[in-house]
Amino acid sequence: MADIKAIVFDVYGTLFDVESIQKACEQHFPGKGEAVSSLWRSKQLEYAFLRQLMGQYEPFNIVTKDALSYALEIHECSYSDEVVQDLMDAYNQLLPYEETEEILRHFQDKKLAVFSNGPDEMLDPLLRNAGFRDYFDAVVSVDEIKQYKPTTASYAYLLKQLHVRRGEVLFLSSNGWDIAGAANFGFHTAWINRKGAPADRLGHKPNMEYNDLNGLIEENNL
Ligand code: LAC
Repeated sequence: MADIKAIVFDVYGTLFDVESIQKACEQHFPGKGEAVSSLWRSKQLEYAFLRQLMGQYEPFNIVTKDALSYALEIHECSYSDEVVQDLMDAYNQLLPYEETEEILRHFQDKKLAVFSNGPDEMLDPLLRNAGFRDYFDAVVSVDEIKQYKPTTASYAYLLKQLHVRRGEVLFLSSNGWDIAGAANFGFHTAWINRKGAPADRLGHKPNMEYNDLNGLIEENNL
C-alpha cells in the first residue's frame, strides 16, 4: 500500500446513505417508504447495467427517475410529476454517513477523488449540500464517457483524469460489484461492508474490508 497516490471513493452507498431516501418516500407514501426506496435502488442499478449491455446509455439521473417510477407503480403508489420531482430533489440531499466528513478531513494531505455513475448534475448538488465539495481534488463522473462502472473503460477513464497509475489508486466502495470491477482493473480496493454482507462471487476479492470508512484510518502506509 506504500505506493498509493490517490484515494478514490464511490458515492452512493459509500459516502452517502441511499437508504436515507426512505424518509422522503415514507412521507409521500406512508407505510411504503422502505419497500419503495429499496426497489428504487435495486432497479436503478439494474437499469444502468442493462443499458450498458444494450449500448443504450442514458445519464444516471434519467435511469434513477425511471427506476423510481417503476418502483412506485409496482407498489401501487399513485404519483404526479411533482412527487417524482420532489423525490428526485431529495436524492440530491441524501445524508452522508456519520463518519464521512471526518475521514475526508483526515486525508486532506492526499489526492482525494470521487468516482461515480452519477452525472455532475447529481454529484455537484449532493456534494455541495453536504458541504463536501472542497474536500476533493477531483469529481469524476462516468457520464463524461457514457460508460457505467464496472466496465474497464470507466476505471481507465478515472486514471486518465487523475494522472496516476492503476497500482497507485486505492478505491473504496460499499458496492461489491464496484469493488470487483475496480479490482479487475488493477486498483487496490477496500470494500465498505456496513452490513456484514457475504462477498459477491465475481472472481475478485477486495484487498481490505472495513465495517465503515473509519477502517481507512487504521490502515498503515497510506
Ligand atoms: C455510484 C453508485 C452507483 O457510482 O453507487 O456512486
